[in-house]
Amino acid sequence: MSASESPIAKAGVLANIGPNGAKSQGAKPGVVIASPSTSDPDYLFTWTRDSSLVFKALIDQFTSGEDTSLRVHIDNFVISEATLQQVSNPSGTVSSGGLGEPKFNIDETAFTGAWGRPQRDGPALRSTAIISYANWLRANGNSSFVANTLWPIIKLDLDYVASNWNQSTFDLWEEISSASFFTTAVQHRALREGAALTTAIGQTSVASNYDTQADNLLCFLQSYWNPTGAYVTANTGGGRSGKDANTVLTSIHTFDPSAGCDVVTFQPCSDKALSNLKVYVDGFRSIYTINSGIAANAAAATGRYPEDSYMGGNPWYLATFAVAEQLYDALIVWDAQGSLNVTSTSLAFFQQFSPSVAVGTYDSSSATFTTLTSAVKRFADGFIAVNANFTPSDGALAEQYSRNTGAPVSAVDLTWSYASALTAFDARAGKASPGWGAAGLIVPASCSSNSGGGGGDTVPVTFNVQATTVFGENIYLTGSVDALQNWSPDTALLLSAANYPTWSTTVNLPASTSVQYKFIRKFNGQVTWESDPNRQINTPASGSFTENDTWR
Ligand code: NOJ
Ligand code: NOJ
Repeated sequence: MSASESPIAKAGVLANIGPNGAKSQGAKPGVVIASPSTSDPDYLFTWTRDSSLVFKALIDQFTSGEDTSLRVHIDNFVISEATLQQVSNPSGTVSSGGLGEPKFNIDETAFTGAWGRPQRDGPALRSTAIISYANWLRANGNSSFVANTLWPIIKLDLDYVASNWNQSTFDLWEEISSASFFTTAVQHRALREGAALTTAIGQTSVASNYDTQADNLLCFLQSYWNPTGAYVTANTGGGRSGKDANTVLTSIHTFDPSAGCDVVTFQPCSDKALSNLKVYVDGFRSIYTINSGIAANAAAATGRYPEDSYMGGNPWYLATFAVAEQLYDALIVWDAQGSLNVTSTSLAFFQQFSPSVAVGTYDSSSATFTTLTSAVKRFADGFIAVNANFTPSDGALAEQYSRNTGAPVSAVDLTWSYASALTAFDARAGKASPGWGAAGLIVPASCSSNSGGGGGDTVPVTFNVQATTVFGENIYLTGSVDALQNWSPDTALLLSAANYPTWSTTVNLPASTSVQYKFIRKFNGQVTWESDPNRQINTPASGSFTENDTWR
């Protein structure tokens, strides 16, 4: 697939970047549209996460010399992100939380509709992208531009991460407000490489704060590991299994080839990351019709998380590519270090390819090394082949493909899907991004607390909704946090009709948190949801809160 899809994916990315991209009319220079789709879903917005991951891939292509024509786009991207940082939005201003805003209009104005906000991975991913450009510029004689122009932009994001990492965040899928592995991991990475750049610029006291907070993040990062299930639980909230592409994306986006198979940063070939990968992939084998008949140790289509119901809950191209990429990254390191280690934690992963393999270290001259690495390569290629099988003949990559038929579903020409193909193909070709300082990190003996991780303060919130109902029909409430049953219609909270037609309930919600919710009706077992968009409130830090709504 890589030979034919690679140029299509590259063109697909470039078509979605303003001002001249073929599919991004109206986008300001350097603005990445998520997708040209304007309805069902409307993705004609720019997300900080998508844009930063896309530009990180382009910056890597530029700095490695693979494509030197990208510089004008990169410079536009930096200017446009610097502009967006200053746009006041529903999350706040540049100095009061606005950097956590997940998405903007493509003309660089604020998006003011209800949304899962804040999403605190954005500033981290954006600074990682710009730092990688800055590091290249410094190595190529342009330190003054870095110090004068880039560093102030990077510093805004890093200061935000350093002071807010322990606050709750919506996860990368914009659904759960809690603490999230991907967010914690990319924040850790950003502060680590940010500290190194900041030291190089001579701001040692700022750098030392970044390192201190990075230590706290690294400590907290360890807490997501579930030793019983042998996988990483993606979110501290949400009430799901926790098996999630979140964790695989973390492994590839915090890959540092100089860190070997270090487990504290969940490097792609670390035993925990490999065990996690197996558990994650296995989570999709029996739930998607298109995976039926596939052997239990062969590649299969994977999605965001098994419980997903968005657009029907389907495989995602970028999730399946991420599995392949993690495996290619692992192969890069095993080849470079000339050996491979099987531990009790990664044993089940390796037994997929060799049922009799034992715990041990296998030198590259051994038959076991050859057997296992060849099988892992075939396994990885299998995930690319699965995506290829469900890619239309013109090579277009949407967001998802149907779990039943394999036909493309949801947003067309998703920029992130194309970028995920490019990075997987590069990894397959043995190309790794530059490292970020993950080598030799040690987890501090004690951790500072994370209030987003649960156990924080709550405030009583009263929901009143005016709704006329027929006899036997009831009104319920569900929403984005545990206390609102994480969007489950089955376990939604029943409201009291004591003051009919006002239905009402009071529930304790996390303080200082943006919470999304909807009312639903149930009648004779039939569930009816309110119309979109989701409703949203920001809970106060203390005291209580009353929300008055009318059924919609
Ligand atoms: C839109 C978000 O982008 C998507 O990630 C989410 O699953 C749906 N809303 C449902 O909340
Ligand atoms: C929905 C995805 O869940 C989210 O991660 C992404 O940022 C947006 N779509 C835009 O692509």
